[in-house]
Amino acid sequence: MTQDTRTQDTRNTADMTVVVTGASGRTGGRVARAAQAAGLGVRAASRAAGFDWADSTTWADTLRGADAAYLVHPADVGAPGTAEAVGELARQAVRLGVRRLVLLSARGEDQALPTEEALRASGADWTVVRSAWFAQNFSEGPLVAELRERGELVFPAGEVPEPFVDLRDVADVVVAALTDGERYAGRVLSVTGPRLLTFGGAVAEIAAATGRGLTYRAVAPRDYGEALLGFGVPPEEAGFLTEVFATLLDGRNAHVEAGVREILGREPRDFTDFVREEAAAGTWKAE
Ligand SMILES: NC(=O)c1ccc[n+]([C@@H]2O[C@H](COP(=O)([O-])OP(=O)(O)OC[C@H]3O[C@@H](n4cnc5c(N)ncnc54)[C@H](OP(=O)(O)O)[C@@H]3O)[C@@H](O)[C@H]2O)c1
Repeated sequence: MTQDTRTQDTRNTADMTVVVTGASGRTGGRVARAAQAAGLGVRAASRAAGFDWADSTTWADTLRGADAAYLVHPADVGAPGTAEAVGELARQAVRLGVRRLVLLSARGEDQALPTEEALRASGADWTVVRSAWFAQNFSEGPLVAELRERGELVFPAGEVPEPFVDLRDVADVVVAALTDGERYAGRVLSVTGPRLLTFGGAVAEIAAATGRGLTYRAVAPRDYGEALLGFGVPPEEAGFLTEVFATLLDGRNAHVEAGVREILGREPRDFTDFVREEAAAGTWKAE
């Protein structure tokens, strides 16, 4: 890279404004912080700021004048209706000149393919980031209370290993994709952690780090679906989630991929480091 090119790259990045959907959430929050650390201007597309995924008339004000956007749908990326919403948002963005769009998708999720296709069909300079199961599913979100309060994680994952990925790595990959369209437009990037671990193995690491007798109990997907109904999850959503978990956890994702290393030029963060940090922060302390 010549000196001139480097100056050009730096100026372009400093001038960029990126729209970050879900900026108060797990991935969006980290994408916003990583983008700010990279010197980008960040515009949060949040309900608090008037942006609502459920109302397409609220999107243009957030998109207008931006250079790129990170798209994370709050429902599952493969949930009914997500493809239509992402497609429509992407078409609006392209019409407003926001061509560089990066979508969070899920690795191995067949149900997410129509959402990815809707993004591609919009005419955007698209990138799809297919993430492995988040390490932070064990520290933030619906599974945590169960582990913290009941000391047991009940989940339909059997003994299938998964390369849990740290969301800070996902965020860094998203920012790389947002800022380097020349390299990443038109590509699907698969990001995983550095090694395979079963859900039982993950809970055992958390138990060891916290000194608590935490356990994992595998259940059949069908039984898990019934448990979800018992927690008040609407039947359609429970049915969809059960189907997605069965798809994702049938062994298809039980391999590590080199995305983080290739894109960021460093190793992905290890699950053990994530557990050590969260245990020190008291994440799994019973209340
Ligand atoms: N869990 C995994 O292991 C995994 C793996 C791969 C991919 N994924 C994908 O990750 C996505 C979820 O991402 P996440 O974990 O970052 O989400 P999250 O932490 O649940 O956050 C959801 C965000 O969306 C916002 N939001 C909710 N409803 C909204 C609406 N109607 N309009 C605008 N914003 C709204 C929320 O903000 P406010 O409530 O403040 O408005 C929040 O910031 C899903 O699409 C899933 O398929 C998950």
